[in-house]
Amino acid sequence: MDQKETKYDEIFARSFSRHDQKRFGYTALVVCFIVTCCLCTVFKPYLAPLPAYIGIKETKLLCNTTKPRSDTCMMKGDVRIQGNSSTIFVLSSHVENASWTIKPYARKGDEKAMQSVTNFSIKAIEEQAETMPKCTKMYNEPAIVFSVGGYGGNNFHAFTDVIIPLYATSREFNREVRFLVANKRSQWTTKFQKVLDKLSRYENIDIDNDNQVHCFPSMIVGLNKEDRQELHTDSMNDFIRFLRSSYSLERSTTIKLTNSSIKRPRLLIVSRQKTRAFMNLKDVVGAAQEMGFEVIVTEMNANMTQVSRLVNSCDVMMGVHGAGLTNMVFLPENGVVIQVVPCGKMEWLANTDFGEPSKAMGLKYLEYKISEEESTLIDQYPHNHQVFRDPGSIQRKGWGAFRSIYLDKQNVKLDVAKFKETLSKALELLH
Ligand SMILES: *[C@@H]1O[C@H](CO)[C@@H](O)[C@H](O)[C@H]1NC(C)=O
Ligand SMILES: *[C@@H]1O[C@H](CO)[C@@H](O)[C@H](O)[C@H]1NC(C)=O
Ligand SMILES: *[C@@H]1O[C@H](CO)[C@@H](O)[C@H](O)[C@H]1NC(C)=O
Ligand SMILES: *[C@@H]1O[C@H](CO)[C@@H](O)[C@H](O)[C@H]1NC(C)=O
Ligand SMILES: *[C@@H]1O[C@H](CO)[C@@H](O)[C@H](O)[C@H]1NC(C)=O
Ligand SMILES: *[C@@H]1O[C@H](CO)[C@@H](O)[C@H](O)[C@H]1NC(C)=O
Repeated sequence: MDQKETKYDEIFARSFSRHDQKRFGYTALVVCFIVTCCLCTVFKPYLAPLPAYIGIKETKLLCNTTKPRSDTCMMKGDVRIQGNSSTIFVLSSHVENASWTIKPYARKGDEKAMQSVTNFSIKAIEEQAETMPKCTKMYNEPAIVFSVGGYGGNNFHAFTDVIIPLYATSREFNREVRFLVANKRSQWTTKFQKVLDKLSRYENIDIDNDNQVHCFPSMIVGLNKEDRQELHTDSMNDFIRFLRSSYSLERSTTIKLTNSSIKRPRLLIVSRQKTRAFMNLKDVVGAAQEMGFEVIVTEMNANMTQVSRLVNSCDVMMGVHGAGLTNMVFLPENGVVIQVVPCGKMEWLANTDFGEPSKAMGLKYLEYKISEEESTLIDQYPHNHQVFRDPGSIQRKGWGAFRSIYLDKQNVKLDVAKFKETLSKALELLH
């Protein structure tokens, strides 16, 4: 056994033993052993158990469908995947033919997201049965199967549902792992190519459009996501360092302002065109410049090399609640995030999506909640309308209704005098 193999064995052994220690009886837990005495007694009472099986690889299959955000299966032994039928075959022995269906995308429970994620069926095939398809391609490295479908086209979800869980699942393989990507869109893999390259040294496989049977010594289907928190994994500091190194970002911390600083702190204003736009951007820029900021206004694009460099060159980043703020992951440590929160009782959403995550990344977080007068909704609805008086009633009508009013039809016109207080807090935080 060469070193590489030993390494995977260790990783899998760790994963399995960690779980194995926990109590059995989960609906979706099956650990298959090649030979156990009791099974032999039941099925083959006259066979001397061990010698007959020497040389056969041990097979393990462990699925967990009790995690809040993702279902995962780990398997080891003889694992074969047929892309065009989205089926994974695992050779096992002395276990009844078991099967699972896994959607490898970490937003379980969100029906809309999961609709567009491929179902992979995992079949434990009894040893010696003829139903294992013939391998057409063999690999020595392990594989990870995941989907970039769901909401993966949105920057926030790309990070929270895919990139961070992928990092959490694959980093320990030290690039010795191959990614099998379902619901692949070439823009997606192009956009995140640097991150993918940093996690795997092998070319990824578009597993939907594929007439091969790929055979692997081990495989993980679905990405680890142990909690319900957005933009989060238990080692955010490591993840941020990993991103900085993927994009060769230079600044690890922000500018330290003193009273005699000559250099101006850089403020990045994330603008949006169609929805949640700043209506009086010029005034905001002017005010910030007066206060000593060097101001950059940009709409975030899909070139992560450019975006990451720009964000990393800034000390403060502000924007209205939206996916563009996700790029705060590239800010240097101690950077300040200012989230402008539109009308609509969105505090919880704002805090869950960016407030808590930014703090976990070592950033400072400020929130500016706009008043009714600062919302363009005031041009569409009277003051006493339920849109202002009772946003909860709109929320109860469903996400679609909520989204349409508060996220799609709302722009903001900041009260610059009031907003300056928030900017001045940001300056204090840089001292
Ligand atoms: C499945 O995951 C949950 C949540 O992480 C964990 O508590 C549980 O022990 C796991 N079950 C198995 C069988 O590994
Ligand atoms: C498992 O499936 C194979 C092929 O479908 C079949 O030959 C075998 O009898 C099945 N075994 C059990 C225990 O159901
Ligand atoms: C995927 O699997 C689920 C659960 O087994 C099933 O309800 C659903 O219809 C399947 N979807 C597709 C597209 O096959
Ligand atoms: C799926 O791939 C297998 C080879 O793995 C091939 O034999 C089969 O014809 C393909 N099916 C379709 C529908 O393309
Ligand atoms: C820096 O300036 C602030 C306000 O202008 C002042 O309160 C503070 O004492 C000064 N600090 C130093 C170290 O000079
Ligand atoms: C992204 O921008 C960088 C730097 O401007 C450029 O070199 C690179 O080609 C761009 N990448 C894509 C995919 O457009």
